[in-house]
Order: sequence, then structure tokens, then C-alpha cells
Amino acid sequence: MVKLAPSILSADFSNLIADVKEVEKAGCEYLHIDVMDGHYVPNITLGPPIIKSLKGKVDMVFDAHLMITDPDRYIKDFVDAGCDIITVHVEACTHLHRTIQNIKSHGIKAGVVLNPATSLDTIKYVVEDVDMVLLMSVNPGFGGQSFIPAVMEKIKELKKMIDDKNLDVDIEVDGGVGINNIEEVVKAGANVIVAGSAIFGSDDIGATVKKLRENARV
Ligand code: DX5
Ligand code: ZN
Repeated sequence: MVKLAPSILSADFSNLIADVKEVEKAGCEYLHIDVMDGHYVPNITLGPPIIKSLKGKVDMVFDAHLMITDPDRYIKDFVDAGCDIITVHVEACTHLHRTIQNIKSHGIKAGVVLNPATSLDTIKYVVEDVDMVLLMSVNPGFGGQSFIPAVMEKIKELKKMIDDKNLDVDIEVDGGVGINNIEEVVKAGANVIVAGSAIFGSDDIGATVKKLRENARV
């Protein structure tokens, strides 16, 4: 089944817990948490204290997307804050295999993220070690951007790579996904869908989530 992961980047930070409770009430399974350091990406967002403040207040999977340079330094802090899944960018890790093992050593799920221009070859030797691969369908840093069409083919190629190896690895897609293209993204092979502006930018979150879910039932 497809899981929906609203990105809190598009939530109202002055009203964060209320916004998060609303997506929980709408039935979203994951909470996508975009962490940016102003170094790896040209934007700064939030860190472990905010995550910790939300933990325990909603029953959702905390899916932390770390857009930070050399994330190894902070894995323990994010685990202690309550993250259930941590994904790291292959472009931001000097020793990717080590970082994946570091995340898993804390007993939580590990995932890798690829920017739109990064080849699937970069994960050929680690795909068996991860629980999830996140394909960026926009360049990381900001919500509300348009889906980059070339990524559609990449989702299909990743799905084939995972199926050929007989692996149980989730495919998450992040950036520019909404009511109009979720069907195609799911058909291509994704099963965890991030949606920031599509969900938090809508006037009726419940109705939007319902529509996303209907369109994702392919
Ligand atoms: C971008 C973030 C995304 C972003 C998605 O760097 O990783 O999670 O918030 O936002 P939308 O769904 O608005 O493209
Ligand atoms: Zn993200």
C-alpha cells in the first residue's frame, strides 16, 4: 500500500503541532521532516529539538530527510530526538556505507537519497543495505517546486533494480508531487509519497489527502 508523507516544510511553523495533528487525523502514515543546514543546501530549517518536541504527540512514522553535509556527526542526535527512519544524501556522505551502518546500529531504518542528476549507479553496492531509497524529483532546498519529468524514468529503473535483486526496499519520491501526478509516480514504482505544498497548502487537508489516496490507488 502507498504511504503518504506530508512534508512539514510547508506547514505553519507557528502552529506546527496543530498542523501535524491534522495530517495525522487525515490518515497520513509518515511525517516527512526536511532538515537543512544552509551548507549542503541553500536553506536552513530545523533540527533535533523541534523533532523531539513533536515526538509522542502523534502516532506517525518520523521520516527525517537530512540535507546536511557529513550527516554522520548528527545521527545519534536525530535518533535520540525520535526519528524512525533517517535518509542521507549520497552526495553528502564521504563514507556512505559507514553512515548507513551507523544509522542501522541504532535500531532504526536507514535510507539513501539521490538528487535528480545523480545516477542510480551510486547506490549499486549499498542498495541491499538500506530500507528505503528516496529519489528527489526537485533539486533539494525548497518546497513548492515543479516535478522534474526525467525522474519518472529513474523511478522505473530503480524499481527494476530492486525487483531484479528481489529486495524489500521502499521507493520514496520527494518534490512536486500532487493530485495531478501522483498516479503516474505510483505507477512508475514509488510506494512512499512526499507531498508538502500539495497537502499543507490546501484549504481542506482531509479532502486533499483523500483525493491523493484515490489517485494513488492504481
Ligand atoms: C525539498 C524537500 C521536499 C519538499 C517537498 O528539499 O526535500 O520534501 O518540502 O515539497 P513539495 O511537495 O512542495 O515539492
Ligand atoms: Zn524531503
